[in-house]
Amino acid sequence: MTAPLVLVTGGAGFLGSHLCDRLLARGDAVLVLDDFSTGDASHLAHLAASPHRDRFTLRQHDIAQPWPADLPPLRRIYNLACPASPAHYQRHPVQTTLTSTLGMWHALEAARRDGARVLQASTSEVYGDPEEHPQAESYRGHVNPIGPRACYDEGKRVAETLCMAWHREHGSEVRIVRLFNSYGPRLRPGDGRVVSNFIVQALRGEPLTVYGDGSQTRSFCYVDDTVDGLLRMMDSAIEGPINLGNPVEHTVLELAELVLRLTGSRSAIERRPLPPDDPKRRRPDISRAGHHLQWSPRVSLEDGLRETIAYFRQMPAADAGSAQRFSTMNEPIASTSSGVL
Ligand SMILES: NC(=O)c1ccc[n+]([C@@H]2O[C@H](COP(=O)([O-])OP(=O)(O)OC[C@H]3O[C@@H](n4cnc5c(N)ncnc54)[C@H](O)[C@@H]3O)[C@@H](O)[C@H]2O)c1
Repeated sequence: MTAPLVLVTGGAGFLGSHLCDRLLARGDAVLVLDDFSTGDASHLAHLAASPHRDRFTLRQHDIAQPWPADLPPLRRIYNLACPASPAHYQRHPVQTTLTSTLGMWHALEAARRDGARVLQASTSEVYGDPEEHPQAESYRGHVNPIGPRACYDEGKRVAETLCMAWHREHGSEVRIVRLFNSYGPRLRPGDGRVVSNFIVQALRGEPLTVYGDGSQTRSFCYVDDTVDGLLRMMDSAIEGPINLGNPVEHTVLELAELVLRLTGSRSAIERRPLPPDDPKRRRPDISRAGHHLQWSPRVSLEDGLRETIAYFRQMPAADAGSAQRFSTMNEPIASTSSGVL
């Protein structure tokens, strides 16, 4: 492949793999760095047979480690590498923290070397358990710096700090998006996210696990809308941060009932104790995204869930039923080493 211009860290993950599809479809050359800790090379396997294959390279690398010296010049860096599911990021909290901090630093160093623009995939978790509702970008958050979620929340906060520090000190072009819950095909069964948990449990006829009384709210954004927002932000003229998420708020119980209806499942709903520091309400104020990016979500929760359920239905039963399959962070789940898909 000639010079890959767009780097996607975490490109084998849920969001990253969809982003690669969109970048390649619009003609970009794409390089992925991924350690396969929570991602899956199979999310990118279709590219091997696609007309885009000559413009796509996949390399196995932990972004918290020094980056390979032989990377070609980069024009854009989408920094998505980081486990996103609480089950994963809490299992290896040190590595999670280092991925967001050292990984961000390495991305910014690479950007400075090449004069590239960096987009950081930050998160609504920087708002912690919010005391302000809905959450606007001006809200500074309510995060427990020593709690079990801190490796993720505080890691992402430091990553934002590093981006702005680089921008001020080195004039680097940075873009920060704060993503709220996103869902869609290529979520992995058993990785602990509420949408994939409910769908897999419903399809298997098992009880749907609701933590607390289910009255806590989340807003769910379909992956196509999220990726559209990432592309618009990268091409925009502002640093951000910008919230990207669906402002339609649902209780977790409502989501469980909708999944039951759309799957036609007779599963029961089973309640478990609420984990510590679990946010009670989550809804983005997306006025800035509307104003600066002309972005707002287009896909309704019902339509998006139908697509996601169809994806899980066609998955081989062995995969959909294997809650453990993706549970071991840092053990590569694909044998892909450096190389071109
Ligand atoms: N999906 C969401 O709802 C959501 C919400 C907020 C923020 N985000 C952020 O978006 C990004 C992508 O999320 P996702 O849902 O696709 O998660 P994911 O776990 O599916 O993908 C993350 C990818 O990063 C890779 N990775 C993890 N640590 C790495 C490291 N040290 N070096 C190289 N690769 C590494 C994983 O193998 C995986 O392929 C993450 O940074 C996450 O924090 C996602």
